[in-house]
Amino acid sequence: MTPPRKLHIKSYGCQMNVYDAQRMVDTLAPEGFVETADANEADLVILNTCHIREKASEKVFSELGRLRVMKEEAAREGREMKIAVAGCVAQAEGAEITRRASTVDVVVGPQSYHNLPKLLAKARTGAPAIETEFPIQDKFSSLPAPKPAAIRARGISSFVTVQEGCDKFCTFCVVPYTRGMEVSRPVAAIVDDVKRLADNGVREITLIGQNVNAYHGEGANGQAWSLGRLLHHLASVPGIVRLRYSTSHPRDVDDSLIEAHRDIPAVMPFVHLPVQSGSDRILAAMNRKHTAADYIRTIERFRKASPKIAFSSDFIVGFPGETEQDFSDTLALVTQISYAGAYSFKYSSRPGTPAADMQETDTALAVPAAVMDERLARLQALIDAQQASFNRAAIGQTVEVLFERAAHEPGQIVGRTAYLQPAHVMAPADIIGQVLPVTIDSLERYSLKGRLASTHAADTSRAPISIPATEPETFA
Ligand code: 5AD
Ligand code: SF4
Repeated sequence: MTPPRKLHIKSYGCQMNVYDAQRMVDTLAPEGFVETADANEADLVILNTCHIREKASEKVFSELGRLRVMKEEAAREGREMKIAVAGCVAQAEGAEITRRASTVDVVVGPQSYHNLPKLLAKARTGAPAIETEFPIQDKFSSLPAPKPAAIRARGISSFVTVQEGCDKFCTFCVVPYTRGMEVSRPVAAIVDDVKRLADNGVREITLIGQNVNAYHGEGANGQAWSLGRLLHHLASVPGIVRLRYSTSHPRDVDDSLIEAHRDIPAVMPFVHLPVQSGSDRILAAMNRKHTAADYIRTIERFRKASPKIAFSSDFIVGFPGETEQDFSDTLALVTQISYAGAYSFKYSSRPGTPAADMQETDTALAVPAAVMDERLARLQALIDAQQASFNRAAIGQTVEVLFERAAHEPGQIVGRTAYLQPAHVMAPADIIGQVLPVTIDSLERYSLKGRLASTHAADTSRAPISIPATEPETFA
């Protein structure tokens, strides 16, 4: 029997890439590949790349420089190491990658992962294999389902892609070009995935998509289902105790989604709803097609349906033409909403996007780097203060925690609250997979510490699952 071949995947960027990395592992498992955390010993290294900002994109080339050295080292030892570039940089730059980095054997765009075995076979003949088409065929129906052992090893929380691509064309964003048009998976395929995950110990599902609340997948009767309807249905899958979804667009929040928060206890009261800016002038230039007031009204609809709901957002500072007044409008919006957390980024000009063209035509629109830095620091300070105060508010409360795994500290188990705050307790490992009430005693940086208020499960009982010995490696 031939020994298993070793596969190392390094993922950058969004949750979609984390999910896609798992699908690539599942696709290559029948080829005899097993995952390794050590790139040095791998027979195949896949860089699963992100193109959203210049910094993320440039990382690929510095990483490829390091891999070239590893590949040469392997060759000296008589081993062959193949290198593949996947993800959005692969999609956007295609053959350019093999020109800049001759060490690359395979370039594969996000719509073609089911073809990885074929591409590797082609690369074995010597020439690099490149596939960055947007095939009409649904890639999901061609990707193999994960094996029960793989699901169990990945723990009790899982992503499921329900929608991919984006038709919104925000003027700063490459996603519509790298991930293509909005496509929703059919309801039945998603339900099958969720049932398989639940049968193998998964308790929490996060439905993911670049524009997840634009979901309009086909139901059994040929009708399109909204995300709200899908959540309703998935809440009835035995074993599933928590449902989340990400990332949403403020324009696609329909009543069925609001009602899902009002009516379904499994739908967690934590919503990532990026607004990007608080200035109507900038929102218009970004082609967001909503105002700050529209966004606030949407937040109020959620809050009315579920008062304990909390929000996070993404912000871009230094969009071309952003003035101090525009930026203060952003700060004012953040102050008005009060977020549980948020990501903020400096605007990064992406080739081929309308905002990049705008700034090239009128260079006066560019916000100087020092101004961007200063605005980013001010925005982050405000968001950090809001996040700290949100986390501190948990002290003294008894909150429900879904326990995920053994923590680094012996005897401690870590889980997450409804708001994704990590919460640690001293407890036996068989609480993993259960939702239990925890009285929070303290906050250490971003992590809550507490004690079990009851060992009585709030959810249905379940068989114990295998527990990873340590906290899994997180993706950069
Ligand atoms: N520059 C800076 N940030 C960007 N994002 C998307 N494109 C850019 C860009 N060109 C941010 C947005 C988005 C998040 C995923 O990345 O805030 O919501
Ligand atoms: Fe990019 Fe805008 Fe689509 Fe989000 S909604 S993926 S920011 S184009």
